[in-house]
Amino acid sequence: MSPRTSSWRTLLTGCWAAEPAAAAGDEINNNSSSWSSSSAAEPFSPEDLSLTLAGSNLHAFTIAELKAVTRNFTMTNIIGSGGFGPVYKGYIDGGLRPGLKPQHVAVKSLDLDGLQGHREWLAEVMFLGQLRHPHLVKLIGYCCEDEHRMLVYEFMPRVSLENHLFKRLLASLPWETRLKIAVGAAKGLAFLHEAEKPVIYRDFKASNILLDSDYTAKLSDFGLAKDGPQGDKSHVTTRVMGTHGYAAPEYILTGHLTAKSDVYSFGVVLLELLAGRRCVDKARPGRQKNLVDWARPYLNNADKLSRVMDPNLDGLFSAKGAQKAAAVAYKCLSHNPKSRPSMSAVVESLEPLLSLKDVPAGPFVYVAPAEEEERKEMEAERAEKNQQQHNRDQRHKQRFPNSVIHSEVTLHRDGNSLYRNSNFGKPLRQKSQNQERGA
Ligand SMILES: Nc1ncnc2c1ncn2[C@@H]1O[C@H](COP(=O)(O)OP(=O)(O)OP(=O)(O)O)[C@@H](O)[C@H]1O
Ligand SMILES: [Mg+2]
Repeated sequence: MSPRTSSWRTLLTGCWAAEPAAAAGDEINNNSSSWSSSSAAEPFSPEDLSLTLAGSNLHAFTIAELKAVTRNFTMTNIIGSGGFGPVYKGYIDGGLRPGLKPQHVAVKSLDLDGLQGHREWLAEVMFLGQLRHPHLVKLIGYCCEDEHRMLVYEFMPRVSLENHLFKRLLASLPWETRLKIAVGAAKGLAFLHEAEKPVIYRDFKASNILLDSDYTAKLSDFGLAKDGPQGDKSHVTTRVMGTHGYAAPEYILTGHLTAKSDVYSFGVVLLELLAGRRCVDKARPGRQKNLVDWARPYLNNADKLSRVMDPNLDGLFSAKGAQKAAAVAYKCLSHNPKSRPSMSAVVESLEPLLSLKDVPAGPFVYVAPAEEEERKEMEAERAEKNQQQHNRDQRHKQRFPNSVIHSEVTLHRDGNSLYRNSNFGKPLRQKSQNQERGA
């Protein structure tokens, strides 16, 4: 990890007003995308940014370069979408930049009508630009041109843990793979918590755990990350942000953020890995809607743990390993943050479970190569995106019946104003500045 200098900290905190202290009743997002509010303040130029990040090895891409990388941001290249905006698969060929090897990349583009904004983009660039670890996704570069804010990451062929655990298109993850993912993600969090300047991640959830071709887990999305408490402070006070179901109860109540808030979220994901269920599932009956509330009493009860375990595992897991992992989840989910273990203690408890040999042998299961799984996923995502685009086009047609532009993300320049088809008629610069709110 390269040392984080005071200059980037200054830039990070200087870019917007400080986050206000939590107010009782601050909301946390109820859908699966993280929520936060963003500031429009932008008292720095792209040149300031590239000077600040000079030692970070990040590439400052132009829009023209990223158009070439993503085949003009074509919808068929969309691999996902979250609170920040759409994510495109792209390919950097050898001729794009000296020193940049040919590779697949994921390009995340800020949706100017979306929930997040410049603040999250900058936090991502600043944190991931400075932190390097085998369990953090690698940020290759960024784009900051006009209103556009983009992030260019290494491409993770098996996409996210959420896809594998909850989308039934894919074969169920075997026990050993689930453990490997849990250990990898725990190491990523432990690294952040124990960095020279500790970082609280604040958005640990299945969709933010990306998977490499061999299921190495890597944390992505540092838009909500926060520097840990300094000196003798026990916590940082922030506005409550995060994702419903994953955020620690005391953080929701008080806004007091500590590394133990991340440990709680880790407990939620570990439980999701054991149970193969989403932490919040409104389709389930009664108490089962909230996985943590429902499963907690079974986690430290060996006789009842089978009620929690994912039926898709077909019993093919180490009984001892499952009990120990459930005990770790139980501790992480403790109501009292002080009773939760540190992330390095979690790693110490979980890693030895990888070598337990009492997993019953099951029938041969063909695991489709990443490319094939990815293709299926992309087809499903594409169908969904096409539908969304169609709906947007319909709304646009109603608003601007005389407009000839009704498809794809197309940029139009009119004098000094830049327009996108989905908000044709409104300059993007004005739009983004009005929309982003101080946080
Ligand atoms: N580096 C990457 N490689 C491959 N796929 C990626 C990469 N980054 C993101 N994705 C895909 O894009 C999807 C959307 O990611 P994004 O982080 O924008 O949203 P999210 O995690 O679903 O929600 P949130 O906005 O709350 O973080 C991910 O779930 C994943 O499927
Ligand atoms: Mg994410």
